[in-house]
Amino acid sequence: MKMTSFRSLHLPCLLLFTTGLACLPIAAQSRPVPNPQLASKELNARVDALLKKMTLDEKVGQLAQFSAGYASGPGASNLKYDELAAKGQVGSMLSVVGAEATNHYQHLAVEKTRLHIPILFGLDVIHGHRTIFPVPLALAASWDPAAVETVARFGAVEARADGIPWVFSPMVDIARDPRWGRIIESSGEDPYLGSAMARAWVKAYQQDDLSKPDSVAVSVKHFAAYGGAIAGRDYNAVDMGELSLRQVYLEPYRAAVEAGAATLMSSFNTINGTPASANSFTLTQILRKEWGFDGFVVSDWGAVAELMNHAIGDGPTVARRALEAGVDMDMEGNLYGTVIASQVRSGKIPESVVDEAVRRILRVKFALGLFEHPYTAEGPAYDATPERRAAARKVASETFVLLKNEPVEGVGALLPLTAKAKKVALIGPLADDQRNLLGAWVVTGNPKYVVTLRSALAERLGDRLIYAPGCELLSGEDANVLKRVNFSGPSADDAHLPIPDDAKTIAEAVEAAKQADVAILALGESTNWMEGEAASRATLGFTGAQQQLLEAVVATGKPVILVVLAGRPLELKWAASHVPAILEAWSPGIEAGHAVADVLFGDVNPSGKLPASLPRAVGQEPLYYAQLPTGRPAHGDLSHVPHNAAEKFMSRYLDEENSALYPFGWGLSYTRFSYAQPTISRNEIPVRELLASRTKPVTTVGVDVKNTGSVAGTEVVQLYLRNTAASVSQPVRELKGFARVTLAPGETKHVEFPLGFDELNFYNAEIRRTVEPTTYKIWVGGSSLATAETSLQVVE
Ligand code: BGC
Repeated sequence: MKMTSFRSLHLPCLLLFTTGLACLPIAAQSRPVPNPQLASKELNARVDALLKKMTLDEKVGQLAQFSAGYASGPGASNLKYDELAAKGQVGSMLSVVGAEATNHYQHLAVEKTRLHIPILFGLDVIHGHRTIFPVPLALAASWDPAAVETVARFGAVEARADGIPWVFSPMVDIARDPRWGRIIESSGEDPYLGSAMARAWVKAYQQDDLSKPDSVAVSVKHFAAYGGAIAGRDYNAVDMGELSLRQVYLEPYRAAVEAGAATLMSSFNTINGTPASANSFTLTQILRKEWGFDGFVVSDWGAVAELMNHAIGDGPTVARRALEAGVDMDMEGNLYGTVIASQVRSGKIPESVVDEAVRRILRVKFALGLFEHPYTAEGPAYDATPERRAAARKVASETFVLLKNEPVEGVGALLPLTAKAKKVALIGPLADDQRNLLGAWVVTGNPKYVVTLRSALAERLGDRLIYAPGCELLSGEDANVLKRVNFSGPSADDAHLPIPDDAKTIAEAVEAAKQADVAILALGESTNWMEGEAASRATLGFTGAQQQLLEAVVATGKPVILVVLAGRPLELKWAASHVPAILEAWSPGIEAGHAVADVLFGDVNPSGKLPASLPRAVGQEPLYYAQLPTGRPAHGDLSHVPHNAAEKFMSRYLDEENSALYPFGWGLSYTRFSYAQPTISRNEIPVRELLASRTKPVTTVGVDVKNTGSVAGTEVVQLYLRNTAASVSQPVRELKGFARVTLAPGETKHVEFPLGFDELNFYNAEIRRTVEPTTYKIWVGGSSLATAETSLQVVE
């Protein structure tokens, strides 16, 4: 599959550079047209012709989206939806899945209404539809847009087969605080990586042509800055300056819109006091006027009605504010449907505002070809075929990050596992837990398809594998929570889960470890209950008795490999200093076990890199590498320099380092890579040349990367910049390029990163994207700690 955001020029070297439309200061730009299909004259003529025929009630009907529930479908107690659909009062439905269920409602909308306007069915297809791949945070850890494309393509094809032409994906919120459970749905902390992933999702779902039978329209969410929730508490307020909002948080949305996103979802949070779902600054000024977005905006679930909780007005007022700000469709709030028409009739809302929202929705319906093909043909029942499994396995193994692999006395590096490990003890509550290995946000995926670590290791080791669960994911907590969290024991639906006897199960696990040559611990979180939406945590350690279990197994003296299965960065400080090998495996999806085994046994050399910093302590959060410098830097600008305990009056913690335990971009391999001194093709560029260059690169950083080990491996080569003299303070480092490079043992490749306005610009105090005379420090390497350095002067 070809990435349009990365152009690979097959010169003697590997080239990587970004594209983007909006590259001049805003004032100098003409209105961009990010999705020509939605802007097409012909399509808009059809929209206008239909709009002219519509009554006010029919128009308002298009603004309403209802959830008939995934499981309800025809025959369930859904009379109300039937009636509404037959009256043209349902513009869209969510969570109605399958040809039969969608056709049922579609039939009512298309055959029973005066104007035959089809319903647009939407669904949360987050990391695959029926074939479940690793969670989005894990996909970002692959640093491979092609992996995201694979997931999006499978998702699109399977969703369409189920009557779904519209997915509530990608989630492009920047997430810098793992207390926020929704970090799992994101691409992590960095706007450059996040934008690359956002483009990949949008392009692969929509294929630049919504009318293709296997394209789906995206809904980029959650606009805007939802990930900036104060204290990592879901749905909480967001308070940030416009520079950070634009330079960091809005960048991936902009990338998604420029890639042609057909719809966006407005978020639950306030932004500097104004709720995002009634925010004309983000929804109209930025999204429509600056970025030229022609699609429609759907609110998040009930977000329009929730504006009343934000205390900005009563029902009619908040509905009017949301609509006028630019929220075109009301998800499951039923507020537009009940209070908009009367306000139009009384003159409070100009009908032109309703017309514009309807126009935007109809554009997407026409572009998707729903008027021509409203129904879905009944297909064969889903099966996790070998082709689907192979794709899920390959993608998953690319997402794992080898955090640590230090030699053990008398054994050497524990990973990859060799035949020397005759007996292996597999221990932990996630080792054989199908549901939790799927990850959060799985609507249609079925845990029965998941290959667990236990079964995959048994395939390889037979009776050389000993298994002991060790403990549950939670200990003595409330029975209702236990029921939802623990899956290694009785089924999730068992209302009578016994309170786990941790002491007994830990003792059994210790026994298992003693009998083995090596112990693999599969620890983490309940992805089903403790990650995703409404899953914020105030602590980031292992839950339940898992830490106790880990310490007890380490105390046996047997070599331990820790496999972390979680959708957020956890606090691994103890493990980092006591466990020789740690693999971050996230939530890997249906091929979890096979993919983990592929990496543990060295069939696949790990190549993932962290898309979010792993903290030493939760009190460091929000923790991210691209911090602004302070006036009192502890040991210079780079936060990874260890502290001097006696130092006072510096920006530091008294009781912890500033730095991450494992930083952004970090990830080891079974081989080693060395970097030569980087070169730059031109090291002095006049400002005016940069301003005029638009998307064209003006210079190129090149570096030789060598595989100095004895096995083939893939390195994610990363380029970081620092603008050392801007009119407003700039981050100590910012990622501005990356490339995955596969090298045979002893092989060297030359990697080049073109730089231009796109990479070098920033927002000045007047909120203009610009460049100024300055020196950029430039580093290239295998993580955000990269040390191979060069520089670039931008001169008058
Ligand atoms: C979530 C969205 C999701 C929507 C529809 C909301 O609660 O925030 O991410 O798309 O529900 O299921």
